[in-house]
Amino acid sequence: MSSPEPKRYRVPSKDYGRQYAPFMDELMVEVERVLREEDPILGASVERFESEFAAWCGATHGIGTGSGTDAIYVALRALGIGPGDEVVTQANTFVATVTAIALTGARPVLVDPDHVTMSMTAAALGSALSPRTRAVIPVHLYGRLAPMDEIAGVCERAQVAIVEDAAQAHGARDAQGRAAGSFGAAGCFSFHPSKLLGAFGDGGILVTKDGDLAGRARRLRHLGKRTKYDVEDVAPNTKLDTLQAAILRMKLPFVERWIARHRAVAAIYARELQGAGDLVLPATTAEHAHVHHLFVVRTRRRDDLRAHLREAGINAGLHYPRPPHLQAMGIDWPYEAGSFPVAEELASTVLSLPISHELSDAEIDHVCRSVWRFFAS
Ligand SMILES: Cc1ncc(COP(=O)(O)O)c(C=O)c1O
Repeated sequence: MSSPEPKRYRVPSKDYGRQYAPFMDELMVEVERVLREEDPILGASVERFESEFAAWCGATHGIGTGSGTDAIYVALRALGIGPGDEVVTQANTFVATVTAIALTGARPVLVDPDHVTMSMTAAALGSALSPRTRAVIPVHLYGRLAPMDEIAGVCERAQVAIVEDAAQAHGARDAQGRAAGSFGAAGCFSFHPSKLLGAFGDGGILVTKDGDLAGRARRLRHLGKRTKYDVEDVAPNTKLDTLQAAILRMKLPFVERWIARHRAVAAIYARELQGAGDLVLPATTAEHAHVHHLFVVRTRRRDDLRAHLREAGINAGLHYPRPPHLQAMGIDWPYEAGSFPVAEELASTVLSLPISHELSDAEIDHVCRSVWRFFAS
């Protein structure tokens, strides 16, 4: 029997009240200014935020969208991808990656991730390519940079575009300082409130260094309009809201500090949970390459551990308990249970321990002690 949800978690996965508290007064002043001075649709804050965020990622153009899912969809459409095409992504991704591909009319092709890093591998990607492949979407899952040089090598040889799903990896960088979102033709981010940089609602952005692609993406997020009264595509209306852009602009200067705190929390977990039961900790990698948006451990006793933590007032999440190919999404796939053994094993063993810059050392300590108590019982 599953235990009842505590009314209020002692260690929540996110606490937005706490997150906004340090700059609430400043934010309210800015919100009032925006309400008085700016256009509600594509107001000045949107363009400012788009340029600031793109520059932070090492890209040139930013096109704000209504969500991260829409950013991926718009990027694929801007690359001319549609029915008859194939787009490869990884089988353990959040379902939205697959949804965005399917919405274009293209066929999502999945590959099993690496068992240790949980990322796409160049080898698996290479064997999934076909003459119909037009793009590849590596996912920087949980905040860890996918092996972009290897993936880019495969894509270059096959002449297929890369669209990065960087929804969970704001600020992750490789050894040369290249940021998530800056490797492919386009990099797509989510500003879902739970993300490292989150809006107060839905939002997303695609960043690119390609001016032509940026122009097409701008049209495709706005009903395919070339000018106010000229429409040249069937496309959604999915723009980043002015108020969300203003909130995101205020938060952007804090993100590096928040990433540092995520890394510090991850280091505490890695140190304190070593050797607890059959727990598998996230594989280590260069610090700059992982922003630890999520801290995902694995155990065969996942559901029992999660219930035990809930009893202790700890909200541990599941990212994700059922992979896209086992969802009843209506995609005409040749896949079935067993098609992606690694992704399927991950789905039954992954558990996300609370991680957020708002959490105190005492709260993290409570999580560690509770995990040890579980394995001791
Ligand atoms: C890996 C991944 N891809 C895509 C998305 C979609 O983003 P959104 O929820 O903003 O549509 C998310 C976020 O939820 C995500 O985690």
